[in-house]
Amino acid sequence: MTIATSPLSHVLPLGTLVSQHGHLEIGGCDVLELAREFGTPAYVVSEDDLRARARMFVEELAARHREFDVLFASKAFPCTAVYRVLGEEGLACDVASGGELALALRGGFDPARIYFHGNAKSEAELQEALSAGVGHVVLDSFDDFARLERMAAERGRRQEVLIRVTPGVAGATHDAMSTGQADSKFGFSVPDARAAIARLARAPHLELVGLHFHIGSQLLELAPFREAVRAVRALGDFPVINVGGGLGVAYTSEQHAPGIAEYVDALVSTVHDELGADKRLLLEPGRALVANSTVTLYTVQTVKRNVSTWVAVDGGMSDNLRPMLYGARYEAILAERPLAAAGERCQLVGKHCESGDVIIRDVWLPEPEVGEVIVTPATGAYGYSLANNYNGVPRPPVIFCREGSAREVVRRERYEDLMSRDVDPARP
Ligand SMILES: Cc1ncc(COP(=O)(O)O)c(C=O)c1O
Repeated sequence: MTIATSPLSHVLPLGTLVSQHGHLEIGGCDVLELAREFGTPAYVVSEDDLRARARMFVEELAARHREFDVLFASKAFPCTAVYRVLGEEGLACDVASGGELALALRGGFDPARIYFHGNAKSEAELQEALSAGVGHVVLDSFDDFARLERMAAERGRRQEVLIRVTPGVAGATHDAMSTGQADSKFGFSVPDARAAIARLARAPHLELVGLHFHIGSQLLELAPFREAVRAVRALGDFPVINVGGGLGVAYTSEQHAPGIAEYVDALVSTVHDELGADKRLLLEPGRALVANSTVTLYTVQTVKRNVSTWVAVDGGMSDNLRPMLYGARYEAILAERPLAAAGERCQLVGKHCESGDVIIRDVWLPEPEVGEVIVTPATGAYGYSLANNYNGVPRPPVIFCREGSAREVVRRERYEDLMSRDVDPARP
């Protein structure tokens, strides 16, 4: 049965159904059975959803523009299985640290298709990037520039680079997710970018191929993207323009994000109008590729009724930090009764020793009971990547579901993992 009657249908992974038993079904797998088999909390990914969104980006671009690449902004979900799937779909990759570079390589990305970002790249990370042979480094500051020029010279090679520009355009989003404003730790201001471009013309070991900007995340309006393209036009004519990521997604039933087609259309037409149709256009989506592919499963541990109704589950800020960092909103649905009418206002909270460990405030639920499995949709972006071990809680597994089969691609952490880095002087 389709889930289309639920107001949550557009935040759930594509192809989500209600099974013949009335349970939520993702990637053809009964979510209740997944909880029994793999335990909770767990990240459950619809592999077909991941692939479908990657294809949408590629197809929409191919229909409108000649030379392009879609880069998976891998900070959103840096798990080798996700890198592998998105690489198989023909995407290139954006990494923002040595660790993400190592993961992308392990996930099968050709180094030539990797773009190395970061506002504070260390010498060691740049050495790793050069040794791996990454295709492009995105310069973020004059310090970055000087360091990379010296290191490329030492290796007697010429490295292709882009310059990250902060175009002075702020998208309407939470302050913590806005990056394109002039007062930012990211990138070169427009005047500094002009100076860097002039210096790069005389840098024998760096070859500037284009400009990059990323104005922010979870943007639900397209106008700031257009403004940013216009703002960088004054910096000159380059073969490559990377317009970053930032396309927002729907986390709640009331939220509506522009579709991938609408977003690509707006960007391509602006790039054609402002910069010309001959540019190599790079898009760098993170959230829009992965957020809605994934749900998190929890089990209700306690229900406490005092002034409010507190529904406490076996995870929380260790597996989803976004509500605490940005006040991000989510929805919740019961795996066993996904279409049940929501009758009680609840505070869905985690197990951590912080009053702020609230996954969803004031969420209407159908009187959840202890032992029931609760599902929070749209947790594929910045959930796994921001996960932590607060209170010694092992991080959840990642389960890929496709056509009724489930496979664990990341196992649950064990207590031994929590101690695996300890150097114990009492032991030889
Ligand atoms: C340089 C860069 N590109 C792309 C992204 C991806 O952003 P989003 O997940 O909002 O698409 C980010 C996110 O921080 C970023 O910093």
